[in-house]
Amino acid sequence: MGVVIESDDIVLRERDGVTELIVNGVFAMDSTEVSSELALADAAGAARRVLVGGLGLGYTATRLLANGAETVRVVELSASLVDAARGGATDQLGRLASDPRVELVVGDVADFTGTWDAILLDVDNGPTFLIHDANAKLYRAAFLRRCLASLTPSGRLVVWCEARSPELAATLAELAGHVETIVVPVTRGERTFDYVLYRAAAPTHRT
Ligand SMILES: C[S@@+](CC[C@H](N)C(=O)[O-])C[C@H]1O[C@@H](n2cnc3c(N)ncnc32)[C@H](O)[C@@H]1O
Repeated sequence: MGVVIESDDIVLRERDGVTELIVNGVFAMDSTEVSSELALADAAGAARRVLVGGLGLGYTATRLLANGAETVRVVELSASLVDAARGGATDQLGRLASDPRVELVVGDVADFTGTWDAILLDVDNGPTFLIHDANAKLYRAAFLRRCLASLTPSGRLVVWCEARSPELAATLAELAGHVETIVVPVTRGERTFDYVLYRAAAPTHRT
């Protein structure tokens, strides 16, 4: 497998047309099965201004643009990954980095600013399988409340999870009054399992 980028925090590899991303020593994703990354973008509906936590291989951001988003701010923790994108490490990352509709920002999505039609979080393998321990705060009430308060009236917050998280669902339901569970069945080799997206609206505008 050819290593495209290897830094302190990420490894990007390619073999036989498959791209794989390792973050903080943990497998984050590869390009063979990306239906949940695309479903995450689709869950934003017709959002025009979207904040995305986590660049990854850029599937969610690319789909948002295809769905008509006008501004996509992608906040990515790994400066190496952003550099790799700017250097065109993969065709998709290169296209995103040079697209005038995309603001590619190095930072922790916990520190986001602004008002958004949708906020999409895909920064771990979900709250039950953290890639960075510090990300635990992203699944707690204080941060989720701030996300919901930063949405436009018809806005949506969507959180990607590798499995159901009753605790996260309960927190979102309490903050927003209602939470939708979107199940994305996935097959990887012999294994089939369900990824889960939790979608919530600001309390005044429920789905
Ligand atoms: C699974 S990937 C995202 C996949 C992306 N949805 C896609 O379509 O390719 C997770 C990304 O989140 C980044 N990340 C992890 N913690 C973060 C944080 N607190 N703020 C911003 N980005 C973070 C990782 O470096 C990684 O690039």
